[in-house]
Amino acid sequence: MRIAVLPGDGIGPEIVPQAVRVLRAVTKDSDAFIFEEGAVGGAGLEVADDPLPPATLDIVLRSDAILFGAVGHPRYDHYPHVKKPGAALRRLRKELGLFANFRPVKLFPELIDASTLKPEVIDGLDLMIVRELNSDIYYGTPRGPVETPTGERAVINTMFYAASEVERIAHVAFDAARRRRRKVCSIDKANVLEASALWREVMSEVGRQYPDVELTHQLVDSAAMSLIRNPRQFDVIVAGNLFGDILSDQASMLTGSIGLLPSASLGGNNKGLYEPIHGSAPDIAGRDVANPIATILSAAMMLRQSFGMEAEALRVENAARAVLAGGIATPDLALPGARIVGTREMGDAIVAALA
Ligand code: IPM
Ligand code: MG
Repeated sequence: MRIAVLPGDGIGPEIVPQAVRVLRAVTKDSDAFIFEEGAVGGAGLEVADDPLPPATLDIVLRSDAILFGAVGHPRYDHYPHVKKPGAALRRLRKELGLFANFRPVKLFPELIDASTLKPEVIDGLDLMIVRELNSDIYYGTPRGPVETPTGERAVINTMFYAASEVERIAHVAFDAARRRRRKVCSIDKANVLEASALWREVMSEVGRQYPDVELTHQLVDSAAMSLIRNPRQFDVIVAGNLFGDILSDQASMLTGSIGLLPSASLGGNNKGLYEPIHGSAPDIAGRDVANPIATILSAAMMLRQSFGMEAEALRVENAARAVLAGGIATPDLALPGARIVGTREMGDAIVAALA
């Protein structure tokens, strides 16, 4: 099994090696995985003047799964859109057809006091965000600068959804709900946006094929409020690319830290891309303080989804949980009474817990 390892920028090169260690430790067979590392994002710009260098794309194309860190640094803020670090991620998602992004938001009971929300609000929290990843305002055209009669600077982005794109993510969400509590909440802004009105219409049409799953619709602003007021009302949340991006950062804080949430991006075949939902966090990079757990849990999702290694996936998840239960935490986790460790030591602890 070939794994493309793309650490990227900022804290990426600190957290990704910890997940690689965990993957090595979880199987007895030392040759089970072949890891091939490539430069991506700002790192790609540095070596090849391209956020997704051809050599990296080659590694990706011959891999069975991709372990991705994070991309982005303020240093590249003035770069043109197609050369920004984030362009690498958008290209990978699109070119590999990874249209379905799973972002599980599950509270480790041990961390109930680490959340900024009251324990009674989040106790038992377990929801799944299914985010559409191949369309929406992320890819819609026209985009970029436009001319205006007065010569004033102006820019356009286009929110676009085709019915077929909504339909395929709808099926993913309803299928996911069937393996859970059989509830789908679809997010849109149908009171304002035509793209959202189509989204809602197609969600309802597909929903009729799943009479055993309850479908509700919520406007994104109201959903943002509900996520904080009563997050346990949600089972599967399905959202377009932009709204899913925003709500998943928000939802992550219910669990105590954005440093905990993994994600899997899947498409037609099983070649998935696995990454933490957080960014490159340049402000804390290079200091050995970043939380590697989101990346390690992403590796667990890889074991499960791409390699069918359910038992190994569970072992990784349980190891992470055991370490937190043992009162060991990274600084992002405001866990009362915990011993605070760095990135590497958190990796050490999880590898030790695996054994
Ligand atoms: C995410 C990130 C990316 C996104 C950025 C880095 C392009 O925020 O995966 O959530 O917006 O999709
Ligand atoms: Mg995001």
